[in-house]
Amino acid sequence: MTAASKIYVKTFGCQMNVYDSQRMTELLAAHGFAETAAVEEADVVLLNTCHIREKAAEKVYSDLGRLRQVKEARADAGRQTVIAVAGCVAQAEGAEMLRRAPFVDLVVGPQSYHRLGELLARAKWERRGIVETGFPEEDKFAALPTRAPPGTVTAFLTVQEGCDKFCTFCVVPYTRGAEFSRPVIDVEAEACRLAEHGVREITLLGQNVNAYHGRGPDSRPWSLAQLIARLAKLGDLKRIRYTTSHPHDMTGDLIAAHRDEAKLMPYLHLPFQAGADRILAAMNRKHTAADYLRLIARIRAARPDIALSTDIIVGFPGETETDFAATLALVEQVGFAQAYAFKFSPRPGTPGATLCDQVEENAKLDRLHRLQDLLERQQTAFNLACIGKTLPVLFARQGRHPGQLVGRSPYLQAVHTTAPSSLLGDVVEVAIVGAGPNSLSGALTRPEPAKA
Ligand code: 5AD
Ligand code: SF4
Repeated sequence: MTAASKIYVKTFGCQMNVYDSQRMTELLAAHGFAETAAVEEADVVLLNTCHIREKAAEKVYSDLGRLRQVKEARADAGRQTVIAVAGCVAQAEGAEMLRRAPFVDLVVGPQSYHRLGELLARAKWERRGIVETGFPEEDKFAALPTRAPPGTVTAFLTVQEGCDKFCTFCVVPYTRGAEFSRPVIDVEAEACRLAEHGVREITLLGQNVNAYHGRGPDSRPWSLAQLIARLAKLGDLKRIRYTTSHPHDMTGDLIAAHRDEAKLMPYLHLPFQAGADRILAAMNRKHTAADYLRLIARIRAARPDIALSTDIIVGFPGETETDFAATLALVEQVGFAQAYAFKFSPRPGTPGATLCDQVEENAKLDRLHRLQDLLERQQTAFNLACIGKTLPVLFARQGRHPGQLVGRSPYLQAVHTTAPSSLLGDVVEVAIVGAGPNSLSGALTRPEPAKA
């Protein structure tokens, strides 16, 4: 590619994909690519796809249909366009994607991103579709650079990938492969670089992040709690979070870290998926509703103010009204600050897709709405309860209104405050004066706080 090559990146789905897209863009910057927001200008179009939702592949194919027109229009003007599809749809579809969309130049799975520069160059010169969806042995993380764009206060850092849990509804074990944890020193080096570039809050990412067992400096496997304790020693780093966790891997040392580690924020995303034990068993979740409640009690004993978040699926095959009532009851018992509810969607290749007793669409929708009503009430109540409190807010970006900054509370709520931009990157005490379903508003307790 020439130095003037432009790349247009579109990211679908989860935070892991946002992280991957940033790493790929940075890697390609080293190959002379500049990012563009105008697809018509792009020499390379990269779709980083997500497979978790219903009709994900169909949405990608319909996007590709539009891109084909862009590619043809550019070809008429004598310009080549390389279309690359990355992410979990690419992994799942593989060669099938080139059959259905022969104008695609590269199909690349998540384990091969570090080879993207070379793969794009090949795609450009060979002018035939390339499919790269294996699980190579080499460490892709080592080859992917980290450079936070200037002004970035919060960043994601992938520490673990893949999953061995095989929940019967989920494609992740098939698209992202077996569990893999990055070595502690690699994670630490990346966290250091991020902190040097001004990042103050890091969210450790993994499909099953609390199953982390990366090699420690002592050559033994370290737990997520050990990794967090190590990262907490980095002076410039003020806050640490992690997501997504599985109840089965919520170990005693990690629970204790929520009590002992001041930099670990009191927020936990812990999916339970369903409230009825027979559905949990059919989902292969390895926990019951009572196990989940016991775990929440232990976590709250360690950190009473912790904000809890979860993922819930309605309409898993065989789910009756009674089963769904158990889901509502579990939500009532726990009380969530935030949560994500999904209608079950059969993902090809997963055991759940072929179960008989699929729940009728209308019933799924009705349950989804009832669940979302309850979750919204809980979220609003959680936010309203913050009014009158003073919370430490990490200011991360300018607000929409002049003179306004937006930051995050320890509980991950967005907080809008009138504040000078010199406070970006600082943790500042904010008196919470207002709350809506999705954010808080506050005022500085000291209009010109002294800098530490
Ligand atoms: N149908 C509906 N929701 C799903 N999720 C994963 N697979 C499916 C599926 N087949 C949800 C789970 C998971 C979240 C990331 O997406 O709740 O925790
Ligand atoms: Fe999917 Fe999470 Fe279950 Fe793993 S633990 S199979 S990523 S839902």
